[in-house]
Amino acid sequence: MQDIIRKLDEKREKARLGGGQRRIDAQHARGKLTARERIEVLLDEGSFEEWDMFKEHRCTDFGMADESVPGDGVVTGYGTINGRLVFVFSQDFTVFGGSLSESHAEKICKVMDQAMKVGAPVIGLNDSGGARIQEGVASLGGYAEVFQRNVMASGVIPQISLVMGPCAGGAVYSPSMTDFIFMVRDSSYMFVTGPEVVKTVTHEEVTAEDLGGATTHTTKSGVADLAFENDVDALMYTRRLFNYLPLSNREKPPVRPSTDPTDRLDPSLDTLVPANANQPYDMKELILKIVDDGDFFEIQPDYAKNIVVGFARMEGSTVGIVANQPLVLAGCLDIKSSIKAARFVRFCDAFNIPVITLVDVPGFMPGTAQEYGGIIKHGAKLLYAYAECTVPKVTVITRKAYGGAYDVMSSKHLRGDVNFAWPSAEIAVMGPKGAVEIIFREEKNDPAKITAREAEYREKFANPFIAGKRGFIDDVIMPSETRKRICRSLAMLRDKQIENPWRKHGNIPL
Ligand code: COA
Repeated sequence: MQDIIRKLDEKREKARLGGGQRRIDAQHARGKLTARERIEVLLDEGSFEEWDMFKEHRCTDFGMADESVPGDGVVTGYGTINGRLVFVFSQDFTVFGGSLSESHAEKICKVMDQAMKVGAPVIGLNDSGGARIQEGVASLGGYAEVFQRNVMASGVIPQISLVMGPCAGGAVYSPSMTDFIFMVRDSSYMFVTGPEVVKTVTHEEVTAEDLGGATTHTTKSGVADLAFENDVDALMYTRRLFNYLPLSNREKPPVRPSTDPTDRLDPSLDTLVPANANQPYDMKELILKIVDDGDFFEIQPDYAKNIVVGFARMEGSTVGIVANQPLVLAGCLDIKSSIKAARFVRFCDAFNIPVITLVDVPGFMPGTAQEYGGIIKHGAKLLYAYAECTVPKVTVITRKAYGGAYDVMSSKHLRGDVNFAWPSAEIAVMGPKGAVEIIFREEKNDPAKITAREAEYREKFANPFIAGKRGFIDDVIMPSETRKRICRSLAMLRDKQIENPWRKHGNIPL
């Protein structure tokens, strides 16, 4: 018995060392934590239960029979974040470059399967040289097993990916199917083909960082949600994000009691919207002033900044916020912002998180770039997402709600539950200037007449009361009482139940 215990200790010790001290030192020298250190930062202290520490690869080709490391390059198991259950896998770059073998994939699949059975999120920490080259197709099969599980888990349990090292080729497709991707600056990259292949095929010279680093993916491609300076920051923010999310689609979002009164008024909001309709203001100021304790977790803050999305709490419960940002492109909807918001709304809907929509939208972005890029299909994604969404939906129109964009932004017609407008709201087919230029074209050379027509149009249409008359707006509210009115609406909607008709799945425009 003593012998076995000694052997067990030795085996554990060997597994904990991964690829050995030299490679651990190299990992540290690159400013990266090891797979185990990352889990320690991510989970509550002492909560980690490791699985498959002794699992090894079965490859015998290329001298691999003599080279086996217990754990096979990925640390897996479960633990808690602030006491709530979560499953993790953390790739160990010190073991065969964190490359994915058949056994490595089986370990990941095991935690994913278990997470699905008990209804708890999976967080994947990615740091890998890709498919284990010595294993060939067995490794590719392993990837596909993981992908299949990513898809089956989508909308059932939250999946979060942290990319903390290389992630290239087929390996990118597991993180890309998860709900949120965080990356670490200068030490992580994601691309389908690396700089060398790019050079050969397209003759472009590009560094790995420029091609697929954290900045590229959080500003240009939109593949990743947030970029962090180092591993610890990325892990701490993951803990913060986790606190907003339900463990599965069977749960309501967690409630964190707040001392922020739900009927708190904010008189400064009464002057937030400038008198001049063309002057921008910061929609984030409104968000921070209405949510619990001014605490807002923004998703994709550096991508498609003309729309703001993220999580906050109201009455202590998680809400998803979608808001046009007049500071950027006047808050227009374009291809990128439509896709960004559509994906966010669908996440909220899948996980029972009410959606608050703050509207100041002058319309869709005009231009050949947008039309050729398929704004029709991409704009439809957001429309589709709001229309199929069954969670509580509360909308506040602060200023412009023009044209088709009015319809899209969680309007009454798309089953908006409570739709408010501020007195400054202008709900119309288009802005007064554009409207007058079309319907009074013959007067366009008479500035005095045009000005008078614009005033007439604004008076008649560009206000919240026409929509109010039809019941498209439930009430016109004072900006200062926005928080109170939203909180009351959410309380009323707490047990809302509607269902979409049965279908295998819809056919969202892609
Ligand atoms: N399969 C097997 N072993 C791999 C591997 C893979 N896909 N990727 C890396 N390794 C091993 C290396 O052989 C090396 O082993 P060693 O420590 O015994 O010398 C170790 O992992 C670290 O790799 P190294 O190349 O020294 O690290 P690096 O930081 O300089 O480069 C990569 C990292 C990922 C850029 C580089 O390893 C690479 O190009 N790997 C292959 C990527 C690939 O083509 N994957 C298959 C297609 S998805």
